[in-house]
Amino acid sequence: GVMVRRRVKSRRKWRSVVEILKELEEGCDTPVGRLRQVVDAMAVEMHAGLASEGGSKLKMLLTFVHHLPQGTEKGTYYALHLGGTYFRILRVLLGGERSYLDVQDVERHPIPSHLMNSTSEVLFNFLAFSLERFIEKEGDGSSSQGVKRELAFTFSFPVKHSSISSGVLIKWTKGFEISEMVGKDIAECLQVALNRRGLDMHVAVLVNDTVGALSLGYYHDPDTVVAVVFGTGSNACYLERTDAIIKSQGLLTTSGSMVVNMEWGNFWSSHLPRTSYDIDLDAESSNPNDMGFEKMISGMYLGDIVRRVILRMSQESDIFGPSSSLLSEPYVLRTNSVSAMHEDDTPELQEVARILKDLGVAEVPLKVRKLVVKVCDVVTRRAGRLAAAGIAGILKKIGRDGGGGITSGRSRSEIQMQKRTVVAVEGGLYMNYTMFREYMEEALVEILGEDVSQYVVVKAMEDGSSIGSALLVASLQS
Ligand code: GLC
Repeated sequence: GVMVRRRVKSRRKWRSVVEILKELEEGCDTPVGRLRQVVDAMAVEMHAGLASEGGSKLKMLLTFVHHLPQGTEKGTYYALHLGGTYFRILRVLLGGERSYLDVQDVERHPIPSHLMNSTSEVLFNFLAFSLERFIEKEGDGSSSQGVKRELAFTFSFPVKHSSISSGVLIKWTKGFEISEMVGKDIAECLQVALNRRGLDMHVAVLVNDTVGALSLGYYHDPDTVVAVVFGTGSNACYLERTDAIIKSQGLLTTSGSMVVNMEWGNFWSSHLPRTSYDIDLDAESSNPNDMGFEKMISGMYLGDIVRRVILRMSQESDIFGPSSSLLSEPYVLRTNSVSAMHEDDTPELQEVARILKDLGVAEVPLKVRKLVVKVCDVVTRRAGRLAAAGIAGILKKIGRDGGGGITSGRSRSEIQMQKRTVVAVEGGLYMNYTMFREYMEEALVEILGEDVSQYVVVKAMEDGSSIGSALLVASLQS
């Protein structure tokens, strides 16, 4: 009797876990019809954000970048990039031809976590100090005496610009919380810190990481008009006609175009498939009610969505053994672990076992490990597909979507008439998580049709955010 009862009980528990999974799958469902609604909503919000200040959750920020690097730039330039998880410093040497781009020295370090909620003084002193050390390594030979070093500052947070080299922080994202910095001029903060250390460096441009990626893309291929970052956070920028930026009327006298930083992480639409895990994650984050799209598609959050699902499963059943307190720790499960589990190709799923063990879940049967992989798959698939819808939304707004995916019956010449469009993509999530990338590319084809690859090219831009901003400084000098 006891044995039978125990077996019935454990079967029931397994069933509750299967139900949690099923509910998750339904909640994360992204059939192409729904993706198309997201595409349309993105395009509509873009229009609204361009029409008036505060007209949409999409800020559609002016960057004052009117010209992108051509490939003829010359000289030595520096870039400092403060991202979400890493900061980078690099030096590029340009020889006046596109093919002569020499990325000479690249430093990449994790941002010490205490800086994320320190003070602006501590943060900028740290950045200036890091630059000083970088320059010391150069020795005397590398810079021509008496010539100021020109520096690009790639700052991966929302900034309200007053020129290409100045702008104030609107708000923090991605877990940064130095509140006294909101409203301060970011380029000036860095320049002051550099001067204080006696560094002969000039902050020549202040750009978003997406703008850096666009610049590198354009330098290599002038059909590049959109750039997207999938990293700790997610965002996109694109080249817009100045006359379409209605809210800037009177301010932008130069005709032609300007790069617009969408801050698409804050995009929201009722068509987005949202689960209770998303709602809880948002409520417990440092920026509730903010960056809703980013919280579904970017590297900072995917791991935590997966963690929340596993935690719930472990609470509703004992299939994960005695519940581990580690699992209730926010952000312990990083997205790179999710990708490692998702892409574990060992027959026994040893990688999954190892990562679960690190979370205090030891020795679960293969069936449970498979379940964990499935959870990773559902969460990442949704992210990749929504990311594709976002890209398609931009293409639609600028008329590069091939007419909305009605490709069947389109003649060869109609396809050839489509302008070629390159989308530059950068960020650790995209670069390192193959399944995310594949789901994204697959959904792009579903949304835009089989012919999409004939006119839309998605190109990876490794380190584009930093290299590209240095190129932008170069293009201003020439
Ligand atoms: C966040 C920032 C945005 C940045 C993106 C990618 O969304 O707000 O400025 O481009 O992360 O790093």
